[in-house]
Amino acid sequence: MKRLAALVVMLQPILSGAYVWDLPKGFPTPSVPAANPMSVEKVELGRYLFYDRRMSVNGVSSCATCHKQELAFTDGQPVAIGTTGEKHPRGAMSLVNVAYSAVLTWSNPGMRELEQQALVPMFGEHPIELGLKPGDGFLAMLRADARYRALFKAAFPAEEDCFTMANVTKALASFERSIISARSPYDRYHYERDDTAISDAAKRGEVLFFSQPLSCFRCHGGFSFSSNTVSQGHQIEELEFHNNGLYNVAGAHVGIFEFTKNPKDIGKFKAPTLRNIAVTAPYMHDGSLATLEDVVDHYAAGGRAHDNPLRDPLIGGFKLSAQDKRDLIEFLKSLTDEAILHDSRFSNPWH
Ligand code: HEC
Ligand code: HEC
Repeated sequence: MKRLAALVVMLQPILSGAYVWDLPKGFPTPSVPAANPMSVEKVELGRYLFYDRRMSVNGVSSCATCHKQELAFTDGQPVAIGTTGEKHPRGAMSLVNVAYSAVLTWSNPGMRELEQQALVPMFGEHPIELGLKPGDGFLAMLRADARYRALFKAAFPAEEDCFTMANVTKALASFERSIISARSPYDRYHYERDDTAISDAAKRGEVLFFSQPLSCFRCHGGFSFSSNTVSQGHQIEELEFHNNGLYNVAGAHVGIFEFTKNPKDIGKFKAPTLRNIAVTAPYMHDGSLATLEDVVDHYAAGGRAHDNPLRDPLIGGFKLSAQDKRDLIEFLKSLTDEAILHDSRFSNPWH
């Protein structure tokens, strides 16, 4: 009887239709906008949309063209290339654990919700990413497709006309929020206390990462190894952006200055997640560092522009032995979650 009761409690969210997060030990529940609660059906619809090339003006690209699962949802290029060949000024970012990001993209402090962000690649013109135009028949195409008719009906059962752009972005956002990674060797070591999950070199690298003078954790902190992490019941007071010593002048790499117009903000960017970092080369917003060795050399040198007065005080440079450097990189490699790179829940549903 007791067991049956326990089973009923366990199944309760499933029976009531609530979304069940598959969260590992130690991970908080993501906060989700009240206007777009999670559901299995929305996640499924979002997945079809994410991989649909008809989502671009010329049928060439989808979200997945720039966010490839096997590369932790990046594209392996220094900067992204839109569906008509236009170069983006910045590189595609990983979408893993994006549900926990309080602010989206490399350097737009106003970009706060996935529902809002999805409109940029779809309709943005500077640069053109997918190149859709309002009223160009995209919604009509969805409505005419039998599979989408079923998917939309299931995802938005209460709505009379569910083929709206708002529902497209809600579904995309739900799919993105479902991409949660926590099965890296480091997670097994740290959260499940499996001492054998990572090498001694990686353990030494962890100590370096979390101590001075390297101070990596001061900007790449928390379980997402990123700044600006939020979850249910945990907000942050102020968004953080940093100048990590790459650029100090106006031009192509102004960072959040583009929006704040505060000269002190030139070259400040979001510190992105380091999860799966070994598979997301090249590095930085413009792909200007090719390897993790280059990244460590960059920080050890105190950044590229030594006379950069805007460089964050934490980017002061440090000395590492060859062994230390290898150890730090081993630690970064232990953040790769092989399972998420192949997990069928996030793969292309069209084949
Ligand atoms: C042409 C390549 C390209 C396509 C297509 C594309 N993206 Fe991106 N994505 C990028 C780039 C580049 C960035 C960084 C943007 C910036 O900094 O302004 C980015 C950033 C993001 C981010 C922010 C991630 C973070 O950690 O802050 C999200 C979310 C995202 N894209 C979702 C999508 C979705 C959803 C689609 C499809 C509707 C899509 N992208 C299509 C290139 C692309
Ligand atoms: C002062 C804050 C700060 C510190 C300290 C810091 N980083 Fe970063 N890191 C950033 C920012 C900001 C970016 C993005 C910069 C850009 O693209 O313009 C970044 C980018 C990166 C990237 C590239 C991410 C990607 O997706 O391309 C890696 C890898 C990285 N940091 C590793 C480290 C390591 C290892 C350390 C310690 C040695 C460290 N960081 C210390 C702020 C910091």
